[in-house]
Amino acid sequence: MRTAGRLAADVLDMITPFVKAGISTGELNEICHNYIVKQGCIPAPLNYLGFPKSICTSVNNVVCHGIPGEKILKKGDIINIDVTIIKDKFHGDTSKMFIIGKASVKAKRICRIAQECLYIGIKKVKPGILLGEIGKAIGAHADKNHCSIVHEYCGHGIGTEFHAEPQVVHYDDGKIAESPVLEAGMTFTIEPMVNLGGFEVATSKIDGWTVTTKDRSLSAQWEHTILVTKNGCEILTLRDEESV
Ligand code: MF3
Ligand code: CO
Ligand code: CO
Repeated sequence: MRTAGRLAADVLDMITPFVKAGISTGELNEICHNYIVKQGCIPAPLNYLGFPKSICTSVNNVVCHGIPGEKILKKGDIINIDVTIIKDKFHGDTSKMFIIGKASVKAKRICRIAQECLYIGIKKVKPGILLGEIGKAIGAHADKNHCSIVHEYCGHGIGTEFHAEPQVVHYDDGKIAESPVLEAGMTFTIEPMVNLGGFEVATSKIDGWTVTTKDRSLSAQWEHTILVTKNGCEILTLRDEESV
């Protein structure tokens, strides 16, 4: 899982210099795909439940599961790139936001708050806590900043399976007491999707994948794969640029 996590994080570092105005999301997909295969890894999204590409690219009001294609990035856009790789049967899953050119105050704010939500969730992780404590802390931070958390999609257990039990919700769903107790050795993702407007989302009837905010407000997401350790946790997909 450590190896898979590092390899997934490397993809985000590799793609960073290419994420500029003028490039298409399809080109970003192709560069990532070729790199992943060259590292001896499999891009997990490709053909997963029929998903047609190797990464997810979610721009502006797209919440998650954006399909790379003709769309060309322009100044002021925000984009989430979500990478999941399989190395020797194990999955590493991570995503981050990129701001194209000079972003608006709103765009910078939603990207920052979503990243804070991820880090606040990670800081809760240690053996003995209830899984639901993570979502409660994340939801409180979004509330405090008048942003909303997407309910329909959540983090997940991960290992030899891409999406395993348990579901890792990013808000207080009223079921904290029934949620599992964390134990050292568990691996799961935390990946809050945070909207500037309301929490409601809709899935494209055209492609069956692209999830957007119902009110068209901006949405941001950051994701890490986490290992519960004896004293806390290890971020398996940590990048050099991060100081957590
Ligand atoms: N990487 C996403 C996650 O964080 C899942 C993408 S599934 C796909 O769980 F089929 F859309 F690729
Ligand atoms: Co995930
Ligand atoms: Co992901």
